[in-house]
Amino acid sequence: MNNKVEQLREEFLTRLAAAQDAQSAEEIRVDYLGKNGSITGLLKGMKDLSIEEKKDFGQKVNVLKNEATEKIAEKLKEIQEKEMLAEINAMPLIDLSAPANLGRGSYHPITLVQRQCENIFKSMGFTVEDYAEVVTDYECFESLNIPKHHPARDMQDTYYLENGQLLKSQTSAAQNAIYRKYKDALINDGVPIKAIFPGRCFRNEATDACHENTFFQMEGMMVDKNISISNLIYFMKTMLSEVFRKNIKVRLRPGFFPFVEPGFELDISCLICGGEGCPSCKHSGWLELCPCGMIHPEVLKAGGIDPEEYTGFAFGLGLTRLAMMQYGVKDIRDLNSGNLTRLSQFTDDE
Ligand code: FA5
Repeated sequence: MNNKVEQLREEFLTRLAAAQDAQSAEEIRVDYLGKNGSITGLLKGMKDLSIEEKKDFGQKVNVLKNEATEKIAEKLKEIQEKEMLAEINAMPLIDLSAPANLGRGSYHPITLVQRQCENIFKSMGFTVEDYAEVVTDYECFESLNIPKHHPARDMQDTYYLENGQLLKSQTSAAQNAIYRKYKDALINDGVPIKAIFPGRCFRNEATDACHENTFFQMEGMMVDKNISISNLIYFMKTMLSEVFRKNIKVRLRPGFFPFVEPGFELDISCLICGGEGCPSCKHSGWLELCPCGMIHPEVLKAGGIDPEEYTGFAFGLGLTRLAMMQYGVKDIRDLNSGNLTRLSQFTDDE
């Protein structure tokens, strides 16, 4: 009898050692420990044994039963681990911490032009202001001498929120807040207001090669005693010669904006076509770049500054158009395209 137990054990261990997958291990379990399995059969056959034999034999068969149960569990675990490892090894190697294969990043042309302008104005003592994109009607229009229903609003239709606020259509929307921020230093300590404010603007308009519905401007203003048009022209000239570092044709012509008096349009000869006329300049050879003028007395008053005592100039540089000219981008819409291949060709060596 005891020999039978030992023989069964040997046979079981040999078969289990040869099992390569979970299915074979399960078959072995059924063959030995199942309802009709060999080990179960030994236990069932004990009924014909004497009490003495039952005790000794029963103990040996129970030891074998426990050992077989344990060995099968171990084997299954071993097979599962092997299968998992094989699955992992079959996976393509992905290193999630490795940088994406996009090459070196580069700054957006608008960012580069904005930084260049900021540096030029900072070197002339201007502060760089930050302001919201969502503003009130008062900030964007009324404080700038554009009352409700004024026809000047037609030129700057924008996107309105349900609460009456709007996405600013011009960086001039920050003027009122900037006057209020610096007026005490101006009035009490004689510190001139010299500030620029680059920002994103929005307009509900049909797009073409030189018009986008989302574009950047850079507002600039200076307020002090005795500021005149010559100051304005000096700063405009300095900015353009620093930005382009080459001779470019500029023209200044009268322009109407309710928040300046007198007002000017400052155009540059189109650098894409050399002034011949192309879609980028609407075939005129000129590109409207930086309207400007002397700040209207009503606008100074709204900012808490006495126009009898102080005067100032303001300008609204079209930063996106400047980037077009600087980098030879023929269609303004390319700048918002998010097409990295196209954009990086302008800035690769920066
Ligand atoms: C204004 O927005 C005035 N706030 C500028 C100003 C400021 C005048 C201070 C006087 C004193 P205008 O709508 O012309 O003006 O826009 C100014 C510049 O922004 C334009 O010359 C142009 O370069 C740029 N610009 C205007 N609309 C768009 C557009 N849809 N897409 C791209 N650039 C635009």
